[in-house]
Amino acid sequence: MPTRDLVFLPDPRLRLTSAPVDAVTDDVRGLVDDMLDTMYAAPGIGLAAIQIGVPKRVITLDVSKKDEPKAPLALINPEIVWSSEALSVYEEGCLSIPEYYEDVERPAEVVVRFLDRDGQTREIRGDGLFATCVQHEIDHLNGVLFIDYLSRLKRERVTKRFQKAAKRDERD
Ligand code: NI
Repeated sequence: MPTRDLVFLPDPRLRLTSAPVDAVTDDVRGLVDDMLDTMYAAPGIGLAAIQIGVPKRVITLDVSKKDEPKAPLALINPEIVWSSEALSVYEEGCLSIPEYYEDVERPAEVVVRFLDRDGQTREIRGDGLFATCVQHEIDHLNGVLFIDYLSRLKRERVTKRFQKAAKRDERD
């Protein structure tokens, strides 16, 4: 289960809408395993397939605390089927936008429906970090980044910073 290269801002792939998975095959399970390895190695608590360049509706997450056992989750074709009116604010970051963190307000509690790695339909209701993380990752499947929730000034500033860094890397 190798780790894969991450895709970084301003890579245009991050703006793609990912396609639904038709059937949960061994290939999809292999993708999930690679995503979990890549996520843990980064380290991160959530990853969408497009962040390793695969435009499929697959996300992984693990929001367990440091002193708790690992709790890897893989959600295929995830969909928010209910969200609370109550909102909460979390400081978010993204493996595709390294070392940049800002507060984002989202529904505090959600119900997400998805296929698990056996192709079974499941639902999870969750709040706190789980709710924030699952909404952030599902956004990736629709080409949406957490910086899209910030002021235009902040978004342009961080985008410029990463554009410059990408140009520097090209020259090296
Ligand atoms: Ni992200």
